[in-house]
Amino acid sequence: MEEVAPFFEGKPILITGGLGFIGSSLARRLVAAGAKVTLADSLIPQYGGNLFNIHDIRDKVAVSITDVRDPHAMAHLIQGQDILFNLAGQTSHIDSMRDPRTDLEINAAAQLSILESCRRHNTGLKIVFASTRQLYGKPQYLPVDEKHPICPMDVNGINKLAGEWYHLLYNNVYGIRACALRLTNTYGPGMRVKDARQTFLGIWIRRLLEGKPVQVFGDGSQLRDFNYVDDAVEALLWCAADSRVDGQVFNLGSSEHISLLELARLLVQLHGKGTYELVPFPEDRKAIDIGDYYSDYSRLKNTLGWEPKVPLREGLLKTLEYYSCHHAHYWKSEPEGSCA
Ligand SMILES: NC(=O)c1ccc[n+]([C@@H]2O[C@H](COP(=O)([O-])OP(=O)(O)OC[C@H]3O[C@@H](n4cnc5c(N)ncnc54)[C@H](O)[C@@H]3O)[C@@H](O)[C@H]2O)c1
Repeated sequence: MEEVAPFFEGKPILITGGLGFIGSSLARRLVAAGAKVTLADSLIPQYGGNLFNIHDIRDKVAVSITDVRDPHAMAHLIQGQDILFNLAGQTSHIDSMRDPRTDLEINAAAQLSILESCRRHNTGLKIVFASTRQLYGKPQYLPVDEKHPICPMDVNGINKLAGEWYHLLYNNVYGIRACALRLTNTYGPGMRVKDARQTFLGIWIRRLLEGKPVQVFGDGSQLRDFNYVDDAVEALLWCAADSRVDGQVFNLGSSEHISLLELARLLVQLHGKGTYELVPFPEDRKAIDIGDYYSDYSRLKNTLGWEPKVPLREGLLKTLEYYSCHHAHYWKSEPEGSCA
């Protein structure tokens, strides 16, 4: 980040989903780099937006409580921006199955209308889109690289794929510079922990801090990789600052792979107390589970030199520490301990 920070100094930058987990961490880094940051977020309660995520930079950013499905508001907001970090999204896989149309409207239709606004009002801006590894579906080989077949297992994966390809299309046809990062499980301070909507890890952390057993579905043998939020933010920043990524998709990921059972054990160990239990896979989750997954992120490594830096253990400790202190801003009940 040291070398990329000067690129952002004084630049007008819009982050959709800016009150969410990754968007707010990104905003913090951009503020530190001297950028003029605007955050657009709907703050719909079921999603990850939370004003506390920006409590320390509240007076240094402009906040617009806007829904990306509102084309007029978005047309206004994108004018005059140099960079758009397009992170707003419906992130729950289960919600996308229960309410597919809302997922379609936010993750696909709204993305198209944002791009149309750019085509009409600001063809000069650069867009970095937050896509997802979910669109690969059940891996046919590991690690999953960008050439892996696309076979989404849920509605969310299909709509995120459409959102991603709209960005590439507008790059290729209209010259609106855009790239997409296919994020893997990202975690850290500011993630949604109230429920399992954003990631299972969120609810695990909440349950651990509440003194309840962490619930591992099935036998917990599924492998995953994780990125600490600072590493994901760094990738977003590097991609915004470099034209070599334009028109391309890149996996994020980690070379640390861990089974869910091992992860539950590690969390309990790092917390110093607590338990985990194996519970039967709920049918609706089992039907869309992707099995083992971890990424090959060598395309981004070879293009920009990006690699994750924060070991899982260190990132989990920071995350546990954050929620031990700030749980009251993320859920209502009392945790077992409190911060010093
Ligand atoms: N966190 C992960 O593990 C992960 C993995 C893969 C992809 N992603 C992608 O990264 C992006 C950011 O994810 P996150 O983890 O920060 O989630 P998040 O839920 O914390 O952030 C998304 C933000 O988008 C906002 N939003 C949702 N619908 C909106 C709408 N209609 N209009 C305006 N704002 C709206 C939410 O309020 C929220 O603040 C998402 O697009 C997600 O699909 C995240």
